[in-house]
Amino acid sequence: MSTSFSPIPKPPIDKFEVTPNLNYDTDLDGFDWQTIMDELDWLPGGGLNKAHEAIDRHALNPETANKLAMIWEGKNGEREDYTFADMKEQSDKFANVLKSLGIELGDRVFIFMERVPELYFAFFGILKAGAVAGPLFSAFGPDPVKDRMEDAGAKILVTQPDLRRKVTEIIPHLPELQHIIVVNKDNRDPEPLDAQDLSYEVEMAKASAEFQITNTSQNDYSIMHYTSGTTGKPKGAIHRHHAVIQQYSTGKWALDFHPDDLYWCTADPGWVTGTSYGMIAPWTNGVTQLIYEGGFRASYWYELIQKYKVTVWYTAPTAIRMLMKAGDELPKKYDFSSLRFAASVGEPLNPEAVVWGKDVLGHVFHDNWWQTETGAILCANYASSEIRPGSMGRPIPGVELAILDEDFKPVGPGQDGNLAVRPGWPSMFQHYWQKTDMYNSRFKRGWYITGDTANVDKDGYFWFVGRADDVINTAGHLVGPFEVESALIEHEAVAEAGVIGKPDPIAMELVKAFVSLKEGFEPSEKLRRDIMRFVRSKMAAAVAPREIEFIDSLPKTRSGKIMRRLLKARELGLPEGDTSTLEDD
Ligand code: PRX
Repeated sequence: MSTSFSPIPKPPIDKFEVTPNLNYDTDLDGFDWQTIMDELDWLPGGGLNKAHEAIDRHALNPETANKLAMIWEGKNGEREDYTFADMKEQSDKFANVLKSLGIELGDRVFIFMERVPELYFAFFGILKAGAVAGPLFSAFGPDPVKDRMEDAGAKILVTQPDLRRKVTEIIPHLPELQHIIVVNKDNRDPEPLDAQDLSYEVEMAKASAEFQITNTSQNDYSIMHYTSGTTGKPKGAIHRHHAVIQQYSTGKWALDFHPDDLYWCTADPGWVTGTSYGMIAPWTNGVTQLIYEGGFRASYWYELIQKYKVTVWYTAPTAIRMLMKAGDELPKKYDFSSLRFAASVGEPLNPEAVVWGKDVLGHVFHDNWWQTETGAILCANYASSEIRPGSMGRPIPGVELAILDEDFKPVGPGQDGNLAVRPGWPSMFQHYWQKTDMYNSRFKRGWYITGDTANVDKDGYFWFVGRADDVINTAGHLVGPFEVESALIEHEAVAEAGVIGKPDPIAMELVKAFVSLKEGFEPSEKLRRDIMRFVRSKMAAAVAPREIEFIDSLPKTRSGKIMRRLLKARELGLPEGDTSTLEDD
């Protein structure tokens, strides 16, 4: 069934060779999610499975079976191509491997891997087996991996040799873990496997290439991603197969996917953008994706766009600011004429960056907003509409956003308040894993409270203001200060720690730690570096503190809570506000 959206004239400030999928200003009358649901395939008997919608339905269609789904470029320049039929075969095999190991509906299977093709086969194999996929950021150290897998009660870990070695010490602390499957891609690693581990290659060679997808219902869980809050360890936001409805439709509306697109999403599947928009959205739309295993390098990123003739590009503000920093001469050496649509997410995108895209790449960046919890884009600048640089755009069709005051009542245009969403959007998270109170606390007066502050203008464009909590956004990664503080105080010299986000022109915020030392330890440059190294090796360089400042004692409330707000005010030279609840020194 096709959409009811009508064609529109070319938009005013960007050029398009194809007609945008959605005309936001004229197409939304009578919007109904049922239209989108009818565009999906569904399983016989009415079930829904993301892997079927993303992979199998294209693989089973003779017209698309041999279409390229994934063009993979490895960090050493290797290239591998996979059609939808190939993706089906590999993920079917992996589902059979999981079934032979006793995996059942709802079991949690975690992936701790670099961006290699096997990550994607494993991911869809997990969904086909009816299990829940828990992707982990490959740069994590042992602590975040342990916290997440322990909390989720993961039964299987799929990983790679070097990452396997990195987490050896935590395995005895994961009583529910039954198997570790190690992918030794192209025999990159010469060391033999640990005797208790299974070889991916050996298991896949034994597995049948035919698998009957588990008949999951739309309400069965599919994916969980851990996300940081102000207090406590990260929480596992869990999503159901039903979310595919919105991941598919926002791919069309907010990223303007067309069948002939060559799409590149720079996010890692360890974070929600890398699964919702690095797997589900593009492939449910039948789009060919570039997956690049390597990291950021300005010249090489430009080269990738040119080499693969990328048409739709989804990236993040920190990356854009790093490209801007690399100068305007560099991009002149490359041909970006293939590019049709560029979008950005994860942090506020400064207006200069939006406009720089237009000047240098020939396209403005379309900022959009969402969260791990929302599962899909909820607010976007659309291909068809005027862009307001600095704004996150307007709500996705079928989604109600509002700005609420401190009593959670809607406020008018121009007023800052809590950004909130009316519950019931298809990709809404269903739970924080085993944290029901925490989940319930996110809903007030019939709204989901996002934790962001924002305002809306009279034309319905939303503008991000900041976070309402202490969560730090460093280069698009959310960092819970509590997680970093917990790692810091494990160092033998550290008595107490308070962690804040310090503004940074490129990464938006840097993690900064204030540390008081135990008796017998003196501040020194050597100790500072030692603590930094210690935290990095436990967590991940990307989320560990970049700065550590020694102070005699940390400001605390009478109940002993560290006052991060005050530390931040001091750092920024701002008024310290109400300090009446501080402890007496
Ligand atoms: O604070 C907002 C910021 O990132 C948070 C969500 O982070 P996470 O759950 O890791 O999901 C990232 C992928 C969407 C939001 O609560 N954020 C996200 N997009 C924007 C943004 N801040 C400003 N502008 C955005 N476009």
